[in-house]
Amino acid sequence: MNMKTKKIFADGNGLDEAINFLNSGGLVGIPTETVYGLAAVATDPDAVAGIFAAKERPAFDPLIVHVPRAWQSSAHLIEVGIFAPNEMGPRQQLIIDTLIQAFWPGPLTIVAPKAPDIPDIVTSGLPTVGVRMPDHPVTQVLLQRLSKPLAAPSANRFGRISPTTADHVITELDGRIAAVLDGGPCNVGVESTIVSIGANDQVTILRPGGTDVEAIEAAIHAIAELKDVSVEVHTRDDESYKVEAPGMMDSHYAPEKKMLLLPAGTMKQLHGRDEEAITALRRNIASLCPGFSKVGIIAIHGAPEVIKNVFESALGTPASVTSLSPKGDMVEAARNLFACLRAMDADESLSVLITELTNQTTGLGFAINDRLTRASSS
Ligand code: TXA
Ligand code: MG
Repeated sequence: MNMKTKKIFADGNGLDEAINFLNSGGLVGIPTETVYGLAAVATDPDAVAGIFAAKERPAFDPLIVHVPRAWQSSAHLIEVGIFAPNEMGPRQQLIIDTLIQAFWPGPLTIVAPKAPDIPDIVTSGLPTVGVRMPDHPVTQVLLQRLSKPLAAPSANRFGRISPTTADHVITELDGRIAAVLDGGPCNVGVESTIVSIGANDQVTILRPGGTDVEAIEAAIHAIAELKDVSVEVHTRDDESYKVEAPGMMDSHYAPEKKMLLLPAGTMKQLHGRDEEAITALRRNIASLCPGFSKVGIIAIHGAPEVIKNVFESALGTPASVTSLSPKGDMVEAARNLFACLRAMDADESLSVLITELTNQTTGLGFAINDRLTRASSS
C-alpha cells in the first residue's frame, strides 16, 4: 500500500509530530477507547471545516469535542471556554458533575450549553456542545500536551462503518488527512453514549453506546437531590428526535453490500426447522439480492459451526459465519462488531450479509442493536 496519509507510531516523537500537525491546522486520526476519531483543534474553524470536507459530512451534523483529563468538572469546562458561563442552573451543573465523576474518562458524551469560544461550525450552529474525555492513554497524553480541545467525529467517510484500527482510518481517508496516530485496536468498539442535559434538568439519551443507560440512571439517582430526575431515551420514532439529535441518520454504519436484519429469535426458529421462518428468510434474501449465492452471517453470539449448518441447510447455499462472541459476552461482541462488518463487506465471495438482533436489549446489547439496525437500513 502506497500511503499518502502518514501512520504515526505513538512514541514521544510521534506525539510531537501529531501536535505539530494539529497546531498548524492539520487533521490527525486519533485512537480512542470507542472508535478512531478524526481530530482538529476545536477552536480553529478552518481546521474544523477540513474535517467536514475530508469526511464528506453534511454541515448540519455537529462534532464532539474531546478534552484532557485535567478538565474534570463543569466549573473547569466553563473556565476553559467550552460550556457556557451563567447559562446553567445549579441542578443542571450537579447532574453534569455527577456524570463526569461516574463516567469520565470514558465512553460518555455530555451535551450542554456551549461557550462563545467554541466556533459555530463545530456544533452546526446549535446552542449546545457535546463534550467527552476519552479513555485512551495515547490520546490523553496528546490532549494534555496540546492543552486544547479537539473536535473529532469518527474517522470514516460519512455514513460508512466506523474505524476501530489505524489501518481502517487509512482505508477510509488515505490522502485526505495528514496522519493517523496508531494506538492499537479500540477496546470498546462502539461509539460513546450521548446524553443531553436540558435547562429544566431533563436528561435525554440521544444515542446508546459504550456507557449503559441503566448505569447513567443509577449514578444520577444515587445523589439525594437528584432522585426525582427522569432519564428519557429518545428513539428514532420520537417527533422531536431529528431536531435534538441532528446527524443521527437512519442509514449509517452502512456496508456497501446489502444487509438483512433478522428479528431476535429467528436463528432459533431456523434451528428448529420452522418451515414458515425458512420460507420467509429465503423470500427476504431473494428480494434484497436476487440470485444470491454465498451469504455472510454476522452472529452476535453462538457457535459458528452450528450457525453455519443452520443457514446452509435452510438456504441450500454456502454460508460464511462470524460470531462476535461465541460465549455471548456483549463487551467482546461490541469490540468486534465494526471490524467484522468491514471484513465481511470486503469479502468478494459473499453476495449478501445477514445479521440478527440480540434479545439482550439493555446495556451494550441496546447499542449493538442500534448499530445493526442502522447498518442494515438503506
Ligand atoms: O465515541 C465517540 O463518540 C466517537 C469518538 C471519536 O469520540 N465520536 C463520534 O462522533 O461518534 P460522530 O461525529 O460520529 O457522532 C457525533 C454525533 C453527531 O452525529 C450528533 O448526532 C451528536 O453526536 N452530537 C454532537 N453534538 C451534539 C449536540 N450539540 N447536540 C446533539 N447531538 C450532538
Ligand atoms: Mg460517526
